[in-house]
Amino acid sequence: MLEKIQETASYLKARIHTAPKTAVILGTGLGNLVDEITEKQEIPYQEIPNFPISTVEGHSGKLIFGKLGKKEIMAMQGRFHFYEGYSMKEVTFPVRVMRELGIQTLFVSNAAGGTNPTFKIGDLMIITDHINLFPEHPLRGKNIAYGPRFPDMSEAYDKQLIQKALDIANVQGITLRQGVYLGTQGPTFETPSEYRMFYRLGADAVGMSTVPEVIVAKHCGIRVFGISVITDLGVEGKIIEVSHEDVQLAADAAQPYMTTIMRELINSFQN
Ligand code: HPA
Repeated sequence: MLEKIQETASYLKARIHTAPKTAVILGTGLGNLVDEITEKQEIPYQEIPNFPISTVEGHSGKLIFGKLGKKEIMAMQGRFHFYEGYSMKEVTFPVRVMRELGIQTLFVSNAAGGTNPTFKIGDLMIITDHINLFPEHPLRGKNIAYGPRFPDMSEAYDKQLIQKALDIANVQGITLRQGVYLGTQGPTFETPSEYRMFYRLGADAVGMSTVPEVIVAKHCGIRVFGISVITDLGVEGKIIEVSHEDVQLAADAAQPYMTTIMRELINSFQN
């Protein structure tokens, strides 16, 4: 495993002209951030040794190296979801490659169903913590010496970055919610009873990604900031049929705000 990660990282190091310390996973709601990256170098996943290949409609897969404002960044366009059939090792492989490339901070976005009754469709929610309900743990198996066998999760989402994001939102006049993201395998959206159960468990939003990548990032010593765009509501009395298209439309509407927060946040710190 470690050899594969290092082989992939060596391949990328030989190709890229930058040495970013910041990475972004361009999940739903953040696709347009790509247009703001300058001095772009794009590497399709197919060309990268050991990289899984993205399959879901609307998620083209490539790594993009370049600059966002003054900051050198690495962006993942297209992520690997557990529901697509990838193993947890595949889902989180790119994060381990990030660690080998020297990434110190990871930004993630996703689409999620809101279970908190005060939320509205189109809200942005800073992820303050998560609940991992995936059926397989991404760190199951032999421990890779990037981190301890039993990693601490008391601050999975960096409090300093959360505070900075709140300050930026305040200046920009953008309303941000905060809450707990519950990660579940999908690919079904939840039944009303499942949404209710997740809310009672402490979730403010539920989605099918992010948690595996965040766990592996934490294990590697990478600090994390995440935002969910609330694309539908799993709230009693407000539950309506939901489709992938509805999720995309709601995410597109919130995209400019999400992009602003991420751009400003990424440019607000040194490393
Ligand atoms: N549930 C799970 N994943 C999601 C949802 C949802 O309601 N909306 C967007 N991704």
